[in-house]
Amino acid sequence: MQIIKSNKDLQEYLSGIEKQGLSIGFVPTMGALHEGHLSLISEAADENDIVVCSIFVNPTQFNKPDDLKHYPRVIEKDIDLLKAEKCDVVFNPSVEEIYPEDEPDEHQFDFEGLDEVMEGKSRPGHFQGVATVVKRLFQIVNPTRAYFGLKDYQQMVIIHHMIQKLKLSVEIIPCPIVREESGLAMSSRNELLSDIELKQAALIRSTMKVVKIRSGFATITETKKFVTKQFAKNKYLELEYFEIVDMYSLKPLSTWAQSNNVIACIAVWAGKVRLIDNIILFS
Ligand code: PAJ
Repeated sequence: MQIIKSNKDLQEYLSGIEKQGLSIGFVPTMGALHEGHLSLISEAADENDIVVCSIFVNPTQFNKPDDLKHYPRVIEKDIDLLKAEKCDVVFNPSVEEIYPEDEPDEHQFDFEGLDEVMEGKSRPGHFQGVATVVKRLFQIVNPTRAYFGLKDYQQMVIIHHMIQKLKLSVEIIPCPIVREESGLAMSSRNELLSDIELKQAALIRSTMKVVKIRSGFATITETKKFVTKQFAKNKYLELEYFEIVDMYSLKPLSTWAQSNNVIACIAVWAGKVRLIDNIILFS
C-alpha cells in the first residue's frame, strides 16, 4: 500500500494506472476509520482495479472551530486498518496541498435548495465546504467510481447534484449504513461519547425503526410528535431535528401522499457530540 501526501505524486502514480486502462475506485474520508469506512473500501475493491482512500480533515466544512479542533485524528491507526484491506493508495494531504494560498477557490455552488434543510440549515456553509473538497479531490484522483455512505444521505444527494451540474464523469456508488450491535450508526464521532451516552444513543435507531412502522398508519404530524416525545424523556439526548423528506428533492413533507420516495432523517446531540441517522420509509 502506497502512502502519498502530495497531489503531484498521486497524479504521477495514477497517470500510469489510467494509461493501462484500469478503473479507479475512490473513497474520500476524514479518517478515524471504522467498519463503516472499511465497508466502502471493500465495495470499491470488488468493483475496481485500484482503490484510493483519502484521509483529510477538511477545515472548510466545519462551521464550528471547536468541532474541527476535537475531530479525532489517528492517522497511524487508520493506516494499519487500511493495510489489512484491499486499499492500494492512501492519500493524506496537508491543508496547504488541498488549499494552496495562491489558488483561492471562491466558487459558490448552487444546490438549488438541497442545502436549505436539515444538515444545511443546522450547519451553515457545511455543504459548500464538502462540495469544494470533493470537487478538488475528484480533480486530483479522477476516479471511475466514488463510494459514499448512506449515513450522510443529504451529503450524497448534494454530491450527486454537483457531479451532474459540473458534468463530471465519476459514478457515485451509495453504500449501506454500518451499525454497532446496539443499532447506533457507526461514526468517527462515537469515539467522543461517554459510556452512558453511547448506550443511550441507541434510542436513535430504535425510534427510527418505530417511525418506519408508524408510517403505515400515523400521520406525519403524529410521527413528529412521537419522536419529539421520545427524546424529551431522555436526559442524555437532545433532538436537534427530525424531518420526513422526499428522497430526491429533500423537500419536507406534510402528508405521505406528497411523495412516493420518502426518507426520515434525524440529528441528535449526545452531550457535545452531534449524531445523525436516517431510515428509508418507502420508495
Ligand atoms: P467521513 O465522515 O469520514 O465519512 C467518509 C465516508 O464514510 C462518507 O461517505 C460517509 O457517509 C461514510 N460513512 C461514515 N459512517 C458510515 C457508516 N456507519 N456506514 C457506512 N458509511 C459510513 O463524509 C465525510 O467524511 C466528508 O464529508 C468527506 C466526504 C470525506 C468530505 O470531506
